[in-house]
Amino acid sequence: MTRIAHLSDIHFGAHNPKIVSATEAWLEKRRPDLVVISGDLTQRARVSQFREASGYLNRLRHAGLKLLAIPGNHDIPLYDIIRRFGAPLDRYKRFVSNDLVPWFEDDDVAVLGINTARSLTIKGGRINQEQLALIRERFRLVPEQKTRILVTHHPLFAMPIGKGSELSEAVGGHENAVSAAREAGVHIALAGHFHRTYAESASSMAENLGASLVIQAGTATSTRLRNDEPQSFNWLHVERRDRISLQVIAWNGTSFSDGAETLFTFKGNRWKVEDISGAHQFETGQPLGA
Ligand SMILES: [Fe+2]
Ligand SMILES: [Fe+2]
Repeated sequence: MTRIAHLSDIHFGAHNPKIVSATEAWLEKRRPDLVVISGDLTQRARVSQFREASGYLNRLRHAGLKLLAIPGNHDIPLYDIIRRFGAPLDRYKRFVSNDLVPWFEDDDVAVLGINTARSLTIKGGRINQEQLALIRERFRLVPEQKTRILVTHHPLFAMPIGKGSELSEAVGGHENAVSAAREAGVHIALAGHFHRTYAESASSMAENLGASLVIQAGTATSTRLRNDEPQSFNWLHVERRDRISLQVIAWNGTSFSDGAETLFTFKGNRWKVEDISGAHQFETGQPLGA
């Protein structure tokens, strides 16, 4: 079994320092096998913000934790046009990682991060042909029994983000991205960006989306919340490629508390909620914690 903490949208520069410290304490105590950070590490890609992000990541590394991070749209300078178009991910590479296609593999899982942040789009993201080929290629050699996990900042799928039925935009080129993920046999798609937690079987969202379990993380530490959903991150236990459990760890104003544990099993070409233990926190297909 592999235990993964999935954090997103940390946004140094618009962060709550107390909550940042609380995530560190939580991670050091629970000791996940992997910490995934799915983008937007900073608020405006400023050097001071990247320095804070770098300090945070280094403290986690020092504690012996393994990290897999990718950039988000906020990690590309917005107003500095020369840097935005000339060297958009320069600071990310300098302070976070040179690796824009991070990979983690152990006996149970194979995890690939893909950068969807672009200079040309302010908020939206894209996946290009080269990245699609990489998704297929990297997962091709992974042994059958391992759970394949794809991490992007922008979700591959349109999903509810506002109150009622407002749907988000999916990442640019998402039809091709979804095909690549389907062909690569991706079991779980992790993303962030909307500061909203959500989990659903792709096959229940629309036709031809494939069979992955789509999991969105809220913002772990930002003060900018959507619909007042509190800061949170996801705690995944990947037991087998057809059986994983998910808990939302949410900020309650003074500390992080564990939400209900939802067990997903893969049956008949879709992920289903098998069991929910503890206080009921969300229903599949609904924003978590809504
Ligand atoms: Fe964000
Ligand atoms: Fe974002």
